[in-house]
Amino acid sequence: MPMLPVDQKENDVQFENLLVEISEGIAQVTVNRPKALNALNEQTLKELLDCFQGLENDAAVQVVILTGSGEKAFVAGADIAYMKELSAVAARDFALLGQQVMNGIEQLTKPVIAAVNGFALGGGCELALACDIRLASENARFGQPEVNLGVIPGFAGTQRLPRLIGKGRAKELLFTGDMIKAQEAFRLGLVNRVLSPEELLEAAQTMAKKIAAKGPLAIRLCKDAVDNGMEMDSLKACRYEADQFALCFATEDQREGMAAFLEKRPAEFQGR
Ligand code: CAA
Repeated sequence: MPMLPVDQKENDVQFENLLVEISEGIAQVTVNRPKALNALNEQTLKELLDCFQGLENDAAVQVVILTGSGEKAFVAGADIAYMKELSAVAARDFALLGQQVMNGIEQLTKPVIAAVNGFALGGGCELALACDIRLASENARFGQPEVNLGVIPGFAGTQRLPRLIGKGRAKELLFTGDMIKAQEAFRLGLVNRVLSPEELLEAAQTMAKKIAAKGPLAIRLCKDAVDNGMEMDSLKACRYEADQFALCFATEDQREGMAAFLEKRPAEFQGR
């Protein structure tokens, strides 16, 4: 698998703190700042923004896997050394930048699988929360420890965590700053699956390949229906789903998928 920055072909941009590998429609993005347990400083956030923009525009990419380098951490949070002396205005800008990254991941028109390979704390937990699906290795640890530092989450953890696991459970994690193990995260519905560290990336790749085989347009519309529908009242959300369903019938993939079923053969989706 080649290790390439996403847009290397176009303008030879290198990422300092990310590794991007693209193969067979699947992009694997690795946050790579092992000396700080992959903590998110301004530079890394800006690179994530650029990287995901590039992945959005790259028609060859169908599914993204996001992970951290090393065996210890996914992402151990926003960079505390960077934040320590920020003014209130700079802190707000930093939070807005982080939120822009998280929103960009959530709103990517392609599924993003977090392969959480270790500490996912603070901004790292928020990063995982912005992904569509979370797989965790047994050694993964989750938490929102911001209150231990005298602050609150700034990359939308107070919003995505309660939406995912419920208000009461989220408030317990947010108020105590407790770090929980992967199995507990699974029990709370924070992660979809727990795997051994050796199996994690393979499982993420297998899932990504399965999704990539479905054809990108249906997956895109499905993600859109879930994410946008969840923000509407149920009647409007159902109407929205019907509209997205209807849009599928404007695609060649719908014709191919249904024809293939009736002809008892595998579908060959073209993404049109
Ligand atoms: N920011 C900056 N540096 C970090 C970091 C972070 N979030 N987390 C770890 N590091 C650095 C450490 O300072 C240390 O650097 P040095 O070797 O230069 O001293 C290195 O990574 C290794 O870390 P530890 O020695 O602490 O490793 P450990 O195994 O003893 O502990 C840990 C691991 C429990 C994850 C611990 O590092 C830790 O508690 N990290 C901070 C977690 C945290 O509070 N995250 C939330 C940040 S606030 C936030 O994210 C706000 C937001 O929502 C926007």
